[in-house]
Amino acid sequence: MKIDIRSSVPATANLVSFHSQEKARIKGVPAEEFDGKRLTSVLLHETGGSRKLHVGLGDPAKIGANDLRQAAGLATRQFLKIGATALTFELGQWSAQAQAVIEGAILGAYRYETFCMPVDRRRAVLRSITLVVPKKFTTAANKAAHRGQVLGDSTNYVRQIGNTPANIVSPAVLAEEARKLARTAKLKCTVLEEKELKRKGFGGIMAVGQGSKNPPRLIVLEYRGGAKSQKPIALVGKAVTFDSGGISIKPADRMDEMKFDKMGGCAVLGILRAAAELKLKVNLVGVIPSVENMPDAGAYRPGDIVTTYDGKTIEVLNTDAEGRVILADALSYARKHHNPRLMIDMATLTGAVIRALGFYRAGLFTEVEEWREQLVAIGEQTGERLWPLPMGDEYADKIKSDVALVKNTGGPEAGASTAASFLRHWAEKTPWIHLDIAGTGWTTSNLPHLEKGATGFGVRLLVEAIERMG
Ligand code: BES
Ligand code: ZN
Ligand code: ZN
Repeated sequence: MKIDIRSSVPATANLVSFHSQEKARIKGVPAEEFDGKRLTSVLLHETGGSRKLHVGLGDPAKIGANDLRQAAGLATRQFLKIGATALTFELGQWSAQAQAVIEGAILGAYRYETFCMPVDRRRAVLRSITLVVPKKFTTAANKAAHRGQVLGDSTNYVRQIGNTPANIVSPAVLAEEARKLARTAKLKCTVLEEKELKRKGFGGIMAVGQGSKNPPRLIVLEYRGGAKSQKPIALVGKAVTFDSGGISIKPADRMDEMKFDKMGGCAVLGILRAAAELKLKVNLVGVIPSVENMPDAGAYRPGDIVTTYDGKTIEVLNTDAEGRVILADALSYARKHHNPRLMIDMATLTGAVIRALGFYRAGLFTEVEEWREQLVAIGEQTGERLWPLPMGDEYADKIKSDVALVKNTGGPEAGASTAASFLRHWAEKTPWIHLDIAGTGWTTSNLPHLEKGATGFGVRLLVEAIERMG
């Protein structure tokens, strides 16, 4: 993608201009055809051959970065539909939002069409984005555009792996993808294969993976941008390449969506990619347990008792509550080998979080109070919205087992909170944040600014958060 910053509008172009509801009047356009409301638009043909898409941003008192991101995404999708491949955004009073606009354009331009037949492919592919800003903003806009490009591309990278189905992306293929990323982004990559996982006592990963022909992997990526003495932040991501439920098999309806059960792990890849490209001054370690959860003669069963990497035991009551079982091993590993100052895990963990928050927000669980508020605020800006949900001893009581430390389900109530309380045992005393992205990791309908499929949730949010943690 070519990105240009200039201070004058080119003679002929595909132009995008933004309007708040207050300043929505366009010469020659009746108010009922365009009123500047959020995600509304009108396309005009100008003298001189330019086309100009006016996009609404809504109530001026409420306009933030995410409104510009969404508006830019919508404009890009509309222009691509009519064959435009080079877009020019007139930023004017919105020049401070150059990053969000670039992100929006890049996100809007993405569509998963690797296996579409040529006739069904999109007519145009976005080639270039030009931002027009007042002269005094050009330096700042250049910097912001670079950040936007890295974050947009990293999000789309996550979406592309996420959208790729389970007959192509197995745990081994995901590990190859991580190795490839490590080569280009200069990260250290270690992959533990099944023999080693078994020998070293990763009982959780081995149990969930044992019912599949595609053996499990534990993928570890390291980025060192901080001082040698600085403890890393560990990013842990659930990567179940397909979740059939196992012996506690899921209903057929919408089971196809369980190719997206790897989005937490994919997001970790995207965050490390972005961190390396932006040369963040922190040390990071990504830990991605990857399995395929399938039912076969070798599969783990309800009633099985599993011993995780740190010796804690789990009574399996439902083989479909597999995410927490593999994350237990991954959190143990991160704690033992990397001594992190903070662990953040992302997982498409529970249907219950969708009951609680819908597809609009991810569940946020942490006892680090200062981070609770800050993460929610960052999410409003990046468009990856969160809401805090509780953990605590009453939820932990629900998963007490008579035959092991814990059981892997806690009954029908408060499923997202009992799942988080389960993981808390494996975080031990390390400061820890858990994001349940089951409702936000993918979308099943096209949004105005985003094609359906994997969303890449978590990349912009956590890159921003990590930077602020320093
Ligand atoms: N991957 C699913 C969670 C999920 C379900 C994500 C639907 C997105 C949409 C997870 O492994 C799972 O199946 N969880 C069970 C847990 C239950 C058996 C305690 C669930 O939420 O139903
Ligand atoms: Zn499951
Ligand atoms: Zn799952």
